[in-house]
Amino acid sequence: MNLELAPSILSADFARLADGLARIEAGGADVVHVDVMDGHFVPNLTLGPPVVASLRKATTLPLDCHLMIANADDFIDAFARAGASRLTVHVEACPHLHRTLHAIRAAGMEAAVALNPATPVDALTEIVGDVDMVLVMSVNPGFSGQAFIPNAVDKVRRVVALAGARGVPVPRIQVDGGVVPGNAATLVAAGARSLVAGNAVFATPDPAEACRALRRAAERGL
Ligand code: DX5
Ligand code: ZN
Repeated sequence: MNLELAPSILSADFARLADGLARIEAGGADVVHVDVMDGHFVPNLTLGPPVVASLRKATTLPLDCHLMIANADDFIDAFARAGASRLTVHVEACPHLHRTLHAIRAAGMEAAVALNPATPVDALTEIVGDVDMVLVMSVNPGFSGQAFIPNAVDKVRRVVALAGARGVPVPRIQVDGGVVPGNAATLVAAGARSLVAGNAVFATPDPAEACRALRRAAERGL
């Protein structure tokens, strides 16, 4: 499976998103990570389908939408219409997770599920075969620029092991939060195949070069 670099525009200048997109495209980003927050599931507010529709017009990269919202079911069709490529929902926020994941696929998008730092990998036991990606949060969601929680490395290994134990292909494993060149190779060696990076890309003078540096570091873990 290819190694996916997913810069998070949460750390970009929201008044200059097109410029941010151009910079990460130049740096070789594979997808754009879009953090959707509702001020309820997480203590921050960001953006929704109208902004995703504008992003869709401004880049050819797939839009990897990370929904940190309480009522994801109500917005699946709106994100599909806006041009989202993948929807990640939180296991903690979805009481009918199987239905939600299948609704995302039925709407033509990849379906992914995220685990907060305190949520055990066991929460995936019954649905690991129904997802295109598992997102292991390495910070408590809500803000960029937080410190990486090291337990995420072993958690990635345990997602790989769970898929093996269940006899299903290992889904893409994404890690989000505090990812920097210094921990990228360790995460990839553990099994991560998608790295989200907000501040490590956009809080630098040259986001394109920051993308290249992160990929170089990550590839050492392959
Ligand atoms: C946090 C978001 C992340 C965030 C990552 O809730 O899901 O995608 O933007 O930012 P960094 O890489 O700065 O931790
Ligand atoms: Zn995110």
